[in-house]
Amino acid sequence: MKNRSLISINDFTRAEHIRILELAGAFENNPRQRILQDYVVATLFFEPSTRTRLSFESAATRLGAKVIGFTDSSSSSVQKGESLRDTILTVSNYCDIIVMRHPREGSARFASEVAKVPVINAGDGANQHPTQTLLDMYSIRKTQGSLDNLNIAFVGDLKYGRTVHSLVQALCHYNTTFHFVSPLELKLPSAVKIDIKQRNLVYHQSTDLLEVIPKVDILYMTRIQKERFSDPLDYEKVKNAYILNNQMLDAAKPNLKILHPLPRVNEITTDVDGNPKAYYFTQALNGVFVRQALLASILGVVD
Ligand code: CP
Repeated sequence: MKNRSLISINDFTRAEHIRILELAGAFENNPRQRILQDYVVATLFFEPSTRTRLSFESAATRLGAKVIGFTDSSSSSVQKGESLRDTILTVSNYCDIIVMRHPREGSARFASEVAKVPVINAGDGANQHPTQTLLDMYSIRKTQGSLDNLNIAFVGDLKYGRTVHSLVQALCHYNTTFHFVSPLELKLPSAVKIDIKQRNLVYHQSTDLLEVIPKVDILYMTRIQKERFSDPLDYEKVKNAYILNNQMLDAAKPNLKILHPLPRVNEITTDVDGNPKAYYFTQALNGVFVRQALLASILGVVD
């Protein structure tokens, strides 16, 4: 993985995904190692973030790297009209790796083509969020003991949710049975379903969350992505489509875990937080170890 960009989850093979998960396990056991002391990590966030940016910065800092970057492009020369190309070419001179989030789909791939250093996609519009996928896979494997042969439900905004798109593609390597629960307006895009169909995997589509809960090992809840709607009235129609509460989990399998990439708005009530099935805050913690594994691998400090 040395010197390679990670833009789409399919840029890395199944074996490489597993290698990252194994390395992440080693970092979980020993998260403070000064193996990146000579490196500079740039985090360029053109779109808001809490978990992705801070867990990358925590990961880098705990490994001894220096972190530069911006959290708001209005404080950079983008505000003066600088192009993404010129920004990336310039920042490439100052760092060893770039972590970038941008609202435009395809922007991360473009950045990787002009950058002189590897680029990690921290989310490009509604397209991909591959590092979230790796931490989701880590969380699934840790809680279920395996990634193979699971029933996994994706609930909420399956149209615009980039974490859903990346994770579905990754799970196609593991004989997953998919359960997609969304309003009709927010169904999974056909382009994402292609991988499922090519592998002859089973998938079910439903609008009924209660009907799906007893069947699954993982319930992957998602936020309705307000910022991706062009008409606010369309958002108003679907914003309360699914609200998971504790009572709804009565019929769940004993091994069920609830994942959510976060941030949460109202789709999981806070009474679920104390339920042993709720795993989303630990999932966010796992992001530090997975991002340590990614930085160390791509910078070539570990094999
Ligand atoms: N999961 C995730 O991408 O969260 P942030 O938007 O807070 O980075």
